[in-house]
Amino acid sequence: MSFIVLANFKSNLLASELKTWIDQVKIVASETRDKINFIIAPSTIHLSQPVSNWPFELSAQDVSPYPVGAYTGAVNARQLKELGVEYSIIGHSERRRYFHETQIDIANKARELITVDITPIICLAKDDIIPQFAALEDGLTDKCIYCFEPPADIGGIVAAPSDLIEDTIRLIKKYTKAPVLYGGSVTKDNIVSLKNLNIDGVLVATASLKPESIISLIKNLSHAI
Ligand code: PGA
Repeated sequence: MSFIVLANFKSNLLASELKTWIDQVKIVASETRDKINFIIAPSTIHLSQPVSNWPFELSAQDVSPYPVGAYTGAVNARQLKELGVEYSIIGHSERRRYFHETQIDIANKARELITVDITPIICLAKDDIIPQFAALEDGLTDKCIYCFEPPADIGGIVAAPSDLIEDTIRLIKKYTKAPVLYGGSVTKDNIVSLKNLNIDGVLVATASLKPESIISLIKNLSHAI
C-alpha cells in the first residue's frame, strides 16, 4: 500500500486559487504517484474541479448523515459519488467542536458513505477512540480509514510526540485492520521522521495550502520511501 498524503484545505482557497495550486502541484504528484497516494480534500463547492489525467484522488471534507431527501442544506453521499469523490473526511475535531457532531452522527455519515462505496476517513482524538468504535455499525470498521489527530497539536509546526502517536495508532489498530493516518502540524521538516513511525499516511492542512510548501513535503517524503 502506498503512503497516503491527504491535503485538507479546510475552509480555504477560492476556485482560482485551487486551480493555481493544482497546476503547480500536479507535476510532483504525477512523478511520485507510484510511492504516494496523494488525496486532496477541497471545499464541497470545488469538488467538480477534476480534469483528465488527474494525479490526485478526491476527498470531501464532510457529508450529510442522512440519505437523499428533505434535509435542507445537506450534501448527501450519492451526490458526492456522482462527482467522482472516493473518500470523505468525517468527524474532524473542528466538526466535532464547532458543529457539535456526535459519535452517532459520525457513524451515520460513515454508513451513508460506505453505502455508495466512498471510503470514510474518520478523524479521532484519543478520547474519541472507544466511543467512536462503539458507535460504528458492525462490519463497517474495516471499510474506513482512520486519522489520529490530537486537537492540541493542530495548526502549528511541531507534531505530537512520537511515543503518543505510536501508542495511539497501536490502540486504534486494536479495533481495526484499516489504515491509520496521523494529522497535526505535519510539515516538510518533520514528514520524514513521522514516516518512520507506525503510520500509514498523514493528513496535512496548514502546510498543504501553499503549493511550494506541499511540493517540498512531497519531495522530502518521496526521497525517504
Ligand atoms: P494542520 O491540521 O496540518 O494545520 O495541523 C491538521 C488537522 O487538522 O488534523
